[in-house]
Amino acid sequence: MRRGAVAIPLPLCYTPPASAGPRFGGERDSVQMARRRQLYEGKAKVLFEGPEPGTLVQYFKDDATSGNGTKKGVITGKGVLNNRISEYLMTRLTEMGVPTHFIRRLNMREQLIREVEIIPLELVVRNVAAGSLSTRLGLKEGTRLPRSIIEYYYKNDQLQDPMVSEEHITCFGWASTQDLDDMVALALRINDFLSGLFLGVGIVLVDFKIEFGRLYENDEMRIVLADEISPDNCRLWDVNTGEKMDKDRFRRDLGKVEEGYQEVARRLGILPEAGARDMKGPEAMQ
Ligand code: TMP
Repeated sequence: MRRGAVAIPLPLCYTPPASAGPRFGGERDSVQMARRRQLYEGKAKVLFEGPEPGTLVQYFKDDATSGNGTKKGVITGKGVLNNRISEYLMTRLTEMGVPTHFIRRLNMREQLIREVEIIPLELVVRNVAAGSLSTRLGLKEGTRLPRSIIEYYYKNDQLQDPMVSEEHITCFGWASTQDLDDMVALALRINDFLSGLFLGVGIVLVDFKIEFGRLYENDEMRIVLADEISPDNCRLWDVNTGEKMDKDRFRRDLGKVEEGYQEVARRLGILPEAGARDMKGPEAMQ
């Protein structure tokens, strides 16, 4: 199933899972986070109430699913790496003027974000044929597209996130034409910037999925990038060998899944200092 946070009953207090990693040296914020109220649990992330109104804490799990949730697994250290990678990419994007929900990373697995009204759409930007595009249109994986294309999917787990058109989106009120214009403009800027950034470290950005939200501030609304950008929702191939360094290693049983995510972080220069030792959870720091 395409991801989407699923509303769950609100527990009154949160007991962090053993792997929550709230006691890493020098990362004291997370100790305060430990009792925050859980608001949503998705397949790869959990959202908690933030320390101030209008903020949330986004917690990255190691859980992985694919194929409409039929395949489930754990990619050890994925949450730590995705937290770092998403922090890095969102920060770079903010620097070049793309508004995002990201405020700051709190600890190994949590980041502070702005609370936004999630637009129920997934935008997939594609530069090279792969995955469902290749299957749907019979295109050989790896074929460079004549130009980058954007697809829309309606975020609905029960319907398995069907592909939709602009007509569906505006007709059913999921987003206005102005929202769509803003999202497309941002998606193309994000694609240009990230394609260059990844190419600089020998990685082809084949495609990626992003989500947007509406941020309300001072009686104004603006569309901002939300969710995460990580190897969970990008296809990242080595520029020379074509080796996959993303969640396709899990989806397609290619092995060395953790290593793929680690290699992306390593090339971006953000692998946690202790390397793989840091990936698993609190015990890594003992
Ligand atoms: P697709 O080729 O399977 O449609 O995937 C396109 C991109 O979207 C790819 O980078 C992986 C990402 N994606 C998600 O982030 N979540 C999903 O549930 C699916 C199916 C794809």
